[in-house]
Amino acid sequence: MNFLKRAWLWFDDRTGLSGAIGPIAKHAVPPNTATWFYVFGSATLFTFMLQVATGVTLAFIYVPSSGEAYQSLQYITTQTTFGRIVRGMHNWGASAMILLVGIHMIQVYLTAAYKFPREMNWISGVVLLALTVVMGFTGQVVRWDQTAVWSTIVAAEQAGRVPLVGGWLADFILGGDTVGGTTLSRMYAYHVFLIPALLFVFIGFHLYLVIKNGISEFPRAGDPVDPATYREKYEAMVKKKGIPFWPDAAWKDMVFGFIVICTILVIAIVIGPPELGPPPNPSDIHALPVPDWYFVFYFAFLALMPPEIETYLMVFGPLLVGLLLFCLPFISNRGERSPIRRPWAVAIVALTIATISGLWAIGITSPWSPNFDAKPLTAEIIGADSGPLWRGGMNFNDKGCLYCHTVSGHGGQRGPDLTYVGDRLNANELTWRIMNGGLNMPGFGGTLNNQELSDLVEFLSSRKKK
Ligand code: HEC
Repeated sequence: MNFLKRAWLWFDDRTGLSGAIGPIAKHAVPPNTATWFYVFGSATLFTFMLQVATGVTLAFIYVPSSGEAYQSLQYITTQTTFGRIVRGMHNWGASAMILLVGIHMIQVYLTAAYKFPREMNWISGVVLLALTVVMGFTGQVVRWDQTAVWSTIVAAEQAGRVPLVGGWLADFILGGDTVGGTTLSRMYAYHVFLIPALLFVFIGFHLYLVIKNGISEFPRAGDPVDPATYREKYEAMVKKKGIPFWPDAAWKDMVFGFIVICTILVIAIVIGPPELGPPPNPSDIHALPVPDWYFVFYFAFLALMPPEIETYLMVFGPLLVGLLLFCLPFISNRGERSPIRRPWAVAIVALTIATISGLWAIGITSPWSPNFDAKPLTAEIIGADSGPLWRGGMNFNDKGCLYCHTVSGHGGQRGPDLTYVGDRLNANELTWRIMNGGLNMPGFGGTLNNQELSDLVEFLSSRKKK
């Protein structure tokens, strides 16, 4: 016996590893699950492991401090040997993971694999979905460029408007009154400690359940789930016709997972990581805060809603969707599993995909981002062609107010319409607002001189219904 084999036998004798893992690897699965249709769950797991590996690598150099995060990422991207590729893989891996989670979920839903006895498989999956989305959001923030900071501001501003708990929610996101170092520390802790720890726990639980309850057989029309007899039938079928998971079924998982990782690697090399926008500077109005693609549809949805109900939707929308997903196996945990007999399930999936794609398309051009093509105010709108009023109107064009605010139909819609702002706010309030900004408006205290400020205030004060 050679040395390696003896070492392995010694190790196995002391740990009992092969006795513990062997039966799991070899456990029988239904023959019709060893198809390419069943590879998405394991592919999600592969991308998660890729995220852990690349994330830990980035953490060796990344500095989670508001002063240095941006520089450290730039350093990783341009100065280190494989930094650009690792960052690229981490970024595209996140996209892949979200995409695969979605496909995996659709596949499970269409084949009604969440029905008895796999209710807890589904519920732990819903938790994993939520954790994955939070990872996406916090990951975007720790990138700490202009877009990241603005997205956080948008999120916090929205959360802040929620009745009762708004202030608390905004504080929870920001870690203070404004975006700053504490926000980054907080997001970093979520992103690298808290959420990954929860992910590990729930992935473990999810996989345990997959083995405990067995992989669900591909549904056949006219073969409904009856909790009284299902387990017995399943076990008998697996005993008679089942094939070992390893290697008969697992090789497809391996091949597909390998293809996914290679695709991510190629994209990371060819396209690279997302370009770091300019460093965060909350008073730079040229920031165009576009969140990562998987959030765009949600922002678009909010932007399309009337402002009065937007805040409710922003918090209660996801809660409602989460609750619905959570309750799904309790609403129907028996009966037909085949999508042929569940036309509503197919319709819901089609409708969801269509809605998300539609919103996504709108989201790219929606008014929640500043409108840089806004037509400047004319002398006619300003109501003067010289003097302080005119200069104020011109400042409104030149200082970027126009990108976010509409006056008489000219401008963007990121902030409130200022056509009749003179009726709402007096000169003091206007000055205060312009100097300090708001949750979604940069403060201009540092960029305007006294003359410009007073001209602006004069101009805005003149905006009255008469
Ligand atoms: C990046 C977008 C953005 C830019 C640029 C911007 N604002 Fe705003 N502004 C907002 C938002 C959003 C609000 C609402 C703030 C809030 O709810 O806290 C706001 C609020 C205001 C208000 C209060 C309106 C009200 O009805 O209460 C005034 C006045 C104002 N802005 C003036 C200006 C002026 C003047 C400039 C240019 C110097 C400017 N804004 C630039 C987004 C912007």
